[in-house]
Amino acid sequence: MCGIVGYAGRQSAAPIIVDGLRKLEYRGYDSAGVAVHDGRGIEVVRALGKLRALSEAVAKRPLEGTLGIGHTRWATHGRPSEENAHPHVAGKVAVVHNGIIENHVALRRELIAEGVRFSSETDTEIIAHLVDRALRNGARSLFEAVRASLQLVTGAYAIAVLNADEPLTIVAARHGSPLVLGIGENEILCGSDISALLAHTRDMVFLEDGDLVELRGPGPEAGPTARIQTMDGVPVERPTKRIDWSPTMAERGGFKHFMLKEIHEQPDAIAATLRGRIDLENGDVHGGEIGLDPVSARAIRRVYIIACGTSYHAALVGRYWLEALARVPTTVELGSEVSNRPAVFFEDDLVIAVSQSGETFDTLAAVKAAKAAGARVLAVSNVLDSAIPRLAHGELYTRAGPEIGVASTKCFTAQLTALLLVSVYLGRQRGALDADAGRSLLQGACAVPGFINELLGDADYVRTIATSLVDATDVLFLGRGYNYPIALEGALKLKEISYAHAEGYAAGEMKHGPIALIDASLPVVVIAPKDASYFKTLGNVQEVRAREGRVIALATKGDEAMHDLAEHIIWLPEAPEHVLPFLTVVPLQLLAYYVASRKGHDVDQPRNLAKTVTVE
Ligand code: F6R
Repeated sequence: MCGIVGYAGRQSAAPIIVDGLRKLEYRGYDSAGVAVHDGRGIEVVRALGKLRALSEAVAKRPLEGTLGIGHTRWATHGRPSEENAHPHVAGKVAVVHNGIIENHVALRRELIAEGVRFSSETDTEIIAHLVDRALRNGARSLFEAVRASLQLVTGAYAIAVLNADEPLTIVAARHGSPLVLGIGENEILCGSDISALLAHTRDMVFLEDGDLVELRGPGPEAGPTARIQTMDGVPVERPTKRIDWSPTMAERGGFKHFMLKEIHEQPDAIAATLRGRIDLENGDVHGGEIGLDPVSARAIRRVYIIACGTSYHAALVGRYWLEALARVPTTVELGSEVSNRPAVFFEDDLVIAVSQSGETFDTLAAVKAAKAAGARVLAVSNVLDSAIPRLAHGELYTRAGPEIGVASTKCFTAQLTALLLVSVYLGRQRGALDADAGRSLLQGACAVPGFINELLGDADYVRTIATSLVDATDVLFLGRGYNYPIALEGALKLKEISYAHAEGYAAGEMKHGPIALIDASLPVVVIAPKDASYFKTLGNVQEVRAREGRVIALATKGDEAMHDLAEHIIWLPEAPEHVLPFLTVVPLQLLAYYVASRKGHDVDQPRNLAKTVTVE
């Protein structure tokens, strides 16, 4: 968690860094800071709270200079405060850091014994003191001082460091936390992800773990340069990749919140994720990215999906398709649970890691365990070259564009798209689907963007329903089969941004406990499209009504029975059964959004959360 930006160029660095941090605020937002070299020395401004506080502080105390680093924080070591905000300074050195230094206690003790005085509770300040000590002990440059210091450190990090004596230089390093370089004209940048750099360039260099880089800003005679070495001092070349995201993709584009914009971007995200990957003529999926040739696809004995949070809910829908369409036994596990029990993997498992960010610690740890056991790994991620795809044998990227709202929406439906593609691919290779069946499933997928546009047209009606939920302290969500994970997702969306207690339940489980909760004060959202389990779910609605529960139903247009039972109905278009989870989730995203927005919450940055969870 936490976001880093560094800039070395010809323009004033502070506003560029603050602007870049704004794009990274999803990674953490409890404090922020910036350090700029003004040619004579380093000036630092830090502020507690969201980035707005830093912008205001920088406006009051303008920083001159064309080279600098900045940080937005999500507290791990040390509470959110100005003292704990980065950059941390020691002597002539300023450091920003994303990650965790695992041996911080021992290093801190060692430095204190040498007479070092700490001014924060953070593990990051240790790096600043180590680099300062290395420079005082004669290191020839910041580059060498950082290298020597990092050799003493264990843990995961991405860092960027300035030295008052080197006004053109930023030294950055990556080990377990992401770091990207942006190569512009007359400027060079580094950042935790590409969205922070896109306003300046689309030419990116993705650093590898263990890379140490010296960025030099343009001088009077030379342009900017990047020198990359391994920690052992071996020079390495990393390719420059041209990114096809545009800078405006990371802007709100007229919507009040990123979340609302991202909900509306789902038709495009799904269409983009399908694009070029399907072969309608043969009713098949181009499997190259999946990394499994037909022989290997047939040899798979089990699919084992690993994910957290919203991605876990997408994985649960994926299990439904994998079992129904590809007839392959499928297990779905939370990343954190895989590491808490002796999970068993086999060489003929296909492990699918679903992670929007591609960085989630628990998912990453589980993938490492699966890979070590010899399983094949396929990553489904939205972030190019992130840690999980790097480890995997195959990568199927979702093409949702940058997702800034902390509550995931368009990445969820893009993940569903990717999992449906994998299911059809495996179904075709394993003989569970013939060409006609494959074609009809894929045609259904191609129709999803149109169906979602239709649902988005009813957003105002969902807003009206949301008004009736603003005072609810508890909400129950029920769904069956592939709509059970959608009930879980609807509840998660509501709780994370509206802070109301919400629970998702398999409708068939209602009688086994939750029915005790039902009375006139409990809103129950029931997902009940006209599908194979419709009549059973209708039975649940009747049971809720018999106990005076308030029903908000998602039902297929023309459902008279539901019309008579529910207090509110969100109408769903008639659509093929396998695409219904794409459709039922959209009104639930809108419902959560409008409830939270009505309560006046910071929808894009809900309390206590961060978008990328790189800690255990
Ligand atoms: C909820 C949400 C989180 C993430 C979870 C996993 O809206 O976004 O629950 O889904 O932290 O993140 P990724 O997908 O990046 O592994």
